[in-house]
Amino acid sequence: MENRPKILIVDDEKMNLKLMASMLAPLQHEVLLANNGEDALNIVARENPDLILLDVMMPRLDGFTVCRMLKSDEATRLIPIIMVTALNQLEDRVQGLEAGADDFLTKPFHELELTTRVRSLLRVKQLNDQLHYAHKHINYITRHVEGLLGSFDPLSFKLETVNQELWQQLLGLKERAPEAVLTAAADAPVNWRGCFYRRQGGSIRAEAVAFSWPAGSPGAEVILAAREGVFANREDGKEEAVADFLVSRMPAGTGPWRNYAAYYNYPLLIAAFNYPCRVTAYELDVLRNFLTYSQFVQLVAGQIKSTEEAFHYTIKALARAAEVNDDDTGNHITRVGIFARELAQNLGCADYFCREIALAAQMHDVGKVHIHPDVLRKPGRLNAVEWRLMHQHPLYGTRILGDAPRLQMAREVALHHHEKWDGSGYPAGLKGEDISLAGRIVALADVYDALRNKRSYKPAFSHREACGIITAGDGRVLPGHFDPEVLMTFQRIAPRFADIYETLRD
Ligand SMILES: [Fe+2]
Ligand SMILES: [Fe+2]
Repeated sequence: MENRPKILIVDDEKMNLKLMASMLAPLQHEVLLANNGEDALNIVARENPDLILLDVMMPRLDGFTVCRMLKSDEATRLIPIIMVTALNQLEDRVQGLEAGADDFLTKPFHELELTTRVRSLLRVKQLNDQLHYAHKHINYITRHVEGLLGSFDPLSFKLETVNQELWQQLLGLKERAPEAVLTAAADAPVNWRGCFYRRQGGSIRAEAVAFSWPAGSPGAEVILAAREGVFANREDGKEEAVADFLVSRMPAGTGPWRNYAAYYNYPLLIAAFNYPCRVTAYELDVLRNFLTYSQFVQLVAGQIKSTEEAFHYTIKALARAAEVNDDDTGNHITRVGIFARELAQNLGCADYFCREIALAAQMHDVGKVHIHPDVLRKPGRLNAVEWRLMHQHPLYGTRILGDAPRLQMAREVALHHHEKWDGSGYPAGLKGEDISLAGRIVALADVYDALRNKRSYKPAFSHREACGIITAGDGRVLPGHFDPEVLMTFQRIAPRFADIYETLRD
């Protein structure tokens, strides 16, 4: 179904209205009539006509005034106006041009003259509209991309969310928007899953759709041919079968569906139904852009995700390699990562910081690969020479971690995790906030876990004992070692530490 263009005729004489309407009848457009300026403005606001035939001489609001008002309003300025003048007077034309009229007709005029001008101005209006909507669509996509870039998190990226927002925008466009959009992807040659978005009242309804499309069923071979394609309306031969199949799989109670466009690039497919106008190459291009854009974002997110997973794996492997000769083994590094994240979250740190510290904390002792196993595993206390050697492991750690920006926090943690708030730590004896926040957090996480484990020089302490040592001190560990805010947070969430330790016990 194609929407017929709407033509508004404005004239204060009934006879003229009647005459012009009958002249336009063969064009089969929708004709609206107004016999004064005020009525004309009301009808324009309500009906949004595609063309206006406007009489100049009318009582109260004359044609020039109406024309000027419509042309200065953003919502109506693109509607072509033909001024109908009684006399072929130069002044009238000049005044009409100044008011923004697009064309003139001088009474009396011939039917052919009227229909020719109407046709040509309607064509201009159509092209203008297309340009206007193209601009609008580009704006929507750009704004969407900007929003996405601002909050893009490849690790929690969900294509459905991005798509839903996109379709909402496509369906939410007032003009030239379809009524429904189906997007589907094949996860096996015959199994399709997707979502059906439909405008309902003022909102967009989304419904999950699943269907099987076995070879041999109508349209399946077109899609299975695994080629890119587009089709529109109901005149494209074999692809009509694709549309018929899709329509038959739409949720019950929807439709009837017609005036559609579809774009597919196996295994992805998008179809839009019930455009208010005949589908043209322009609508197909918009669909293709939407689909290509969401495919692109998905691809980028997928690649970032797999790189990130490989990165995490490598970091863990490195951390494990470093603790091979240490007496901290098993899940020590994993637990320290989780304790650190808990502390960061409860300190109110940003999401990125919390996620990053869970990883960075696992690198705290990576420098120990350079310490001789005999020193690492020595039963009893270390002598002065051994201590000096041991005190080098934070520096070795930062050297191993290099200077990649992505490992900035891991370097801070490796370098600072033995620094103490009161300045009694190593390797630099830094004090207070000179120690990085990540370092201050991991220091407490590491001490708690070390206390819970049995070591060559000490037994394993219970949660209560470990908490007591951290908050009251035992001579070796003192509360002044820790950032007071981190310590307070630890006290507040200590039961969480006990739970995590139990869950990840070696
Ligand atoms: Fe260490
Ligand atoms: Fe440790």
